[in-house]
Amino acid sequence: MSDKPVAVVTGSGTGIGTACARALAQEGFRVGLHYRKSAESAKALQAELEDAFLLQADLADLEQVEALLSAVREQAGRVDVLVNNAGHSVNADIHSMKAEQFDEQRAITRGIWFLTKRVLRLYMLRKGSGRIINISSVVGHTGNAGQIPYTMEKAAMDAFTKSLCRELAGRNILVNSVAPGFIDTEMTSVLPGEIRERLLAGVPLGRMGRPEEVAEVVAFLATKGSYITGTVIHVNGGLYGG
Ligand SMILES: NC(=O)c1ccc[n+]([C@@H]2O[C@H](COP(=O)([O-])OP(=O)(O)OC[C@H]3O[C@@H](n4cnc5c(N)ncnc54)[C@H](OP(=O)(O)O)[C@@H]3O)[C@@H](O)[C@H]2O)c1
Repeated sequence: MSDKPVAVVTGSGTGIGTACARALAQEGFRVGLHYRKSAESAKALQAELEDAFLLQADLADLEQVEALLSAVREQAGRVDVLVNNAGHSVNADIHSMKAEQFDEQRAITRGIWFLTKRVLRLYMLRKGSGRIINISSVVGHTGNAGQIPYTMEKAAMDAFTKSLCRELAGRNILVNSVAPGFIDTEMTSVLPGEIRERLLAGVPLGRMGRPEEVAEVVAFLATKGSYITGTVIHVNGGLYGG
């Protein structure tokens, strides 16, 4: 096993996760590429990044999260940085949203909490160092029509960051959120044209962000920013100032 530091990035088969994995590999990390369904693109990324390893799990299922942790143990035996990037938005207004869809949204947050809890216990607390980076969203701050459970869960991610930072006081483990705005990925490609136009009209920089522009902030928090913890860094072209 290599003695390089290890970064685990959830949801690294697509979009922002892929960009984070590339940026962290560039910074010298061996990257654990987690995916749920995007096996093909995750494998292509593994082939691209020297000594990266694959981890498969549906984070909504805690048994699968335990299996993921076993795979980390076998393949790396350490986690120095955890990027909680995986996420999913269930979109419908309050009248048409079903309780099952609400639960589906919440189950991902529960999985992220559980994965983080286990990574802390197995690796970061023992080592006395670590970095946890949670990918939240601008809409957890501004709200968004048609996405109530998603915006609730993204606000919860930032509350998780702040509370965990306090629980870890004195442990030399930094916890931060990165809150993207309107970024050009699969998640936003499904938005109808008129909604995209309306969103773009609110962005002072006048364009969508690129996944790499989120990833460079994640790489900064993973390697530098030694006096930054318990905070939310917004990456949104001016859409919202925090
Ligand atoms: N794009 C934006 O404008 C934007 C803005 C703000 C925040 N974000 C956040 O950024 C993060 C990345 O999103 P993205 O834009 O890159 O969109 P994306 O391409 O749709 O990526 C979402 C990722 O999450 C993974 N995922 C979803 N549900 C999962 C589950 N139950 N278990 C495990 N993995 C799961 C997916 O894995 P598989 O494909 O392998 O299933 C996928 O790789 C998300 O947390 C999203 O909420 C995005």
